[in-house]
Amino acid sequence: MAKAKDTVSRTVIVALALCIVCSIIVSVAAVSLRPLQIENRNLDIKSNILSAAGLLERGSSSDQIREQFNRFTVRLVNLETGEYVDPQSLGLNDAMEFEQYRAASDPAQSRSLSSREDIAGIRRLPHVAQVFLLEEEGELSRIVLPIHGSGLWSTLYGFVSLQADANTIAGLGFYDHAETPGLGGEIDNPRWKQQWVDRQVFGDDLRTPRIELVKGGVDANTPDRQHKVDSLAGATLTARGVENLVNFWMGEQGFGAYLSRLRQGGA
Ligand SMILES: Cc1cc2nc3c(=O)[nH]c(=O)nc-3n(C[C@H](O)[C@H](O)[C@H](O)COP(=O)(O)O)c2cc1C
Repeated sequence: MAKAKDTVSRTVIVALALCIVCSIIVSVAAVSLRPLQIENRNLDIKSNILSAAGLLERGSSSDQIREQFNRFTVRLVNLETGEYVDPQSLGLNDAMEFEQYRAASDPAQSRSLSSREDIAGIRRLPHVAQVFLLEEEGELSRIVLPIHGSGLWSTLYGFVSLQADANTIAGLGFYDHAETPGLGGEIDNPRWKQQWVDRQVFGDDLRTPRIELVKGGVDANTPDRQHKVDSLAGATLTARGVENLVNFWMGEQGFGAYLSRLRQGGA
């Protein structure tokens, strides 16, 4: 027989108290771990920037990644004019604070793209974007640019790195996507990524991006092979997304104006 203290109201009170205690524990954990999560995410992005630039050594510790990344200068660029933007004019202490993907969804900091313009499937373009520049012995040696766009199932977020000519690719990689492992997910395969190294983004006019992902592989006899990368077998749709987003970001809507300024030494 139930004792007097096993009443319905007592059970409800105990359950409620338990819920409140648990939610306080979860909230405190979420709030106190937030800085750590942000730090880890920043570290991941830094290691992806280094990886795209071909500077990430295997097994690098967090400190080594931070140290290598500190060699880069982070700047903000007005995508329309290609000119640098002072972070303080946006109320920021430095360019690293800029949240590009948040800006892209803020109507005050972005514009919507027409379907003709939007080959990357991103809908909105921020007015300002981050760029990561590496100088070696006083000379520009790497330009790392954030890129994103639609794959088959997801938006792909990554970086492309160019050499100082603002044309030759030094590396490319994606740090966030949800394409199918083994199919579209092969964009993370180091052997596929390696194919991008030394490809040329632009044709002779140095204006129109000409990257093409082709089925059946690229060999020494492939015409214009300097612009071509092997498409992913069984994942043509993801590959087409990558082709479109790279051409978008290298083109006039993306970093085109900035890259031509850089080539002329005037950014
Ligand atoms: C479960 C499932 C997952 C798939 N995931 C991808 C993917 O991530 N990327 C992709 O391009 N195609 C994916 N596909 C295949 C596409 O539907 C399509 O067949 C393919 O992109 C065509 O590429 P192909 O011309 O090289 O065969 C997937 C198909 C299935 C059934």
